Amino acid sequence: MKKYNLEVITPIKFAPVVADEIVAAINDVIEEKGICNLVLAGGKTPAGIYRLLSKPPRISQVDWSKVRLFWSDDRYVPKDDVASNYKLVRETLLDDIIIPAENVIAFDTSFATSQESANEYHNRIKNILKITSVQDLSFDITLLGIGGDGHTASIFPNSMVLKENVKIACASISPVAPIDRVTLSPKAIFNSRNIYFIVKGENKAKILDSILKGDGSFDEIPARLYESATGKVTWFIDSEAAKLIQK
Ligand code: 6PG
Repeated sequence: MKKYNLEVITPIKFAPVVADEIVAAINDVIEEKGICNLVLAGGKTPAGIYRLLSKPPRISQVDWSKVRLFWSDDRYVPKDDVASNYKLVRETLLDDIIIPAENVIAFDTSFATSQESANEYHNRIKNILKITSVQDLSFDITLLGIGGDGHTASIFPNSMVLKENVKIACASISPVAPIDRVTLSPKAIFNSRNIYFIVKGENKAKILDSILKGDGSFDEIPARLYESATGKVTWFIDSEAAKLIQK
């Protein structure tokens, strides 16, 4: 069974504690290798954390010129669409930090199809990181959320994406709107050196308990793929989401 760190935090302290952990982790990587490849989670949970990163005192604690930002996934909508994960990050982080444009590596959702977008992201990541395949890819820090159905990023239960072994990024179909999505593939995500799951709220308690108990298959609960992670996995959860976890 994959070992993981579990940090249970009170709701009020959740965003500041996780924001500080992310700052420390980014700076450790920058000290080690000069640049940090950070994958941002989608959804709403991380918004409060991104806001804290973009404000004093934390905004001055990271040299963002030494951070490349990637997205775990996005909805296949225009970048100014209210559902866009890019838009959420722009409004909560990018608008306030000083980061070179070339370090902001988001899905391009202007292609006619999500498949074209995923293929382009696959190629762009290969070129930027100077790698030839997903096997060579290992993001330094990947932030992830989980959905009530056990999805993570835009890897949904029983999705074809679960079978993807070659691509870095894929088109995906969500059971809830917006249905058209683009996502990093399981290998691209779970080869990361550090994975931080960020889970908050009582509505995640049941699925979180199932994931950590190992209920269901990887197809049924894609977030269980953390068990295949090659790097370190840390679950940052608030005490509401932790309610059902076996003590
Ligand atoms: C997305 C995500 C998705 C998200 C979870 C949790 O685009 O929605 O990447 O995996 O992280 O659904 O979403 P919330 O944080 O909004 O609960």
